[in-house]
Amino acid sequence: MSAHEAVTPTAAREHSAARTEEDFRAVYAAAPAGVWAAPGRVNLIGEHTDYNDGFVMPLALPHTTLAAASARTDGVLRLHSGGADGGVVELRVDDLRPAPDGGWAAYPAGIVWAMREAGLPVGGADLHYDSVVPTGAGLSSSAALEVVTALALNDLYALGLAPQRLAQLAQRAENAFVGVPCGIMDQTAAACCTDGHALFLDTRDLTRRQVPFDLAGEGLRLLVVDTRVKHELGDGAYAERRAGCERGARALGVRALRDVPYAHLPEALEKLSGEPVVQALVRHIVTENQRVEEVIARLDAGRTRAIGPLLSAGHASLRDDFKISCAELDLAVDTANAAGAVGARMTGGGFGGSAIVLVEEADAAAVTTAVTDAFTAAGHAAPRVFTAVPSAGARRLK
Ligand code: GLA
Repeated sequence: MSAHEAVTPTAAREHSAARTEEDFRAVYAAAPAGVWAAPGRVNLIGEHTDYNDGFVMPLALPHTTLAAASARTDGVLRLHSGGADGGVVELRVDDLRPAPDGGWAAYPAGIVWAMREAGLPVGGADLHYDSVVPTGAGLSSSAALEVVTALALNDLYALGLAPQRLAQLAQRAENAFVGVPCGIMDQTAAACCTDGHALFLDTRDLTRRQVPFDLAGEGLRLLVVDTRVKHELGDGAYAERRAGCERGARALGVRALRDVPYAHLPEALEKLSGEPVVQALVRHIVTENQRVEEVIARLDAGRTRAIGPLLSAGHASLRDDFKISCAELDLAVDTANAAGAVGARMTGGGFGGSAIVLVEEADAAAVTTAVTDAFTAAGHAAPRVFTAVPSAGARRLK
């Protein structure tokens, strides 16, 4: 999710625990102690709410980052990626210090740093990674890399930490070591999602609920449209939105925008009438939290198709109020909806990356063709379209 993202997907090769184990042997001339996996994600609804103590609802993708790893007793951390140039990165755990521009290795190094900062007994390790999570596509390849590392170290050093705690350490690593001011959604999705469910998370108290999301069983499909426009959260636009939301909360006298009830939105907007930019940010966050609650209510009532208009309304809010969409995302969403989709929205941090499109199974091919043709007609590079099957979170494979 940032400029540092560099573990290029190794999609052209076989992606399996056996292959990752074999590659580890080739790099380190020994067998790994184990192999772990963590997935990328899409967010169904609840965008930019996580740093406002609000609600999110991601689901894990079948696409994973795998790590083969062994502990070391000499305090050396060695990192190697099948998708990155530059061979083995070698660091000493005692010397780890937060530093921007640390390249892809800053993510796993940041995990070791965050664990040690928290007083956990973590030493050196050898790690080798293989990933098929698309990078720079708003699908949280960074969180997959962080969480797979955290889970491997949790097992190698018998830390006994729960998945949510691993996600918090991963967020700490990304915030303080890599230097990206992200919220807790992506890491929690990578650590805590389960097969066949979307994950409802209250980012204030970290209450979680697995919400059944059996699209295939209902004759529906969730498409991911990767626009191939590289998003860039490290460039300040994300931090700017975050600062604007905090400013709004201060002006309204609340701890976070989560504390502005939907019913009080008109008064809140009135109070912010002198600050139109902040006002629009607040409107997005308050209505988005409401949309998450409404999506859950409709899913609980078995009305899956009825979430479509909420997804599309969420997109309009991100485009018009939060101002983080782009021409390609808007084209994907508008074309999909015009071609008969149930609903569509951009997903993730914004400024490029991916859109999600909820479609009837029978319409999936036609909607895909319509979006692809519209990109060609507009002179954009062809998007990559695939199906998001709600999948499992981080786990040990071997
Ligand atoms: C990025 C961040 C998340 C979240 C989303 C927007 O993915 O990493 O914490 O803020 O953007 O919802």
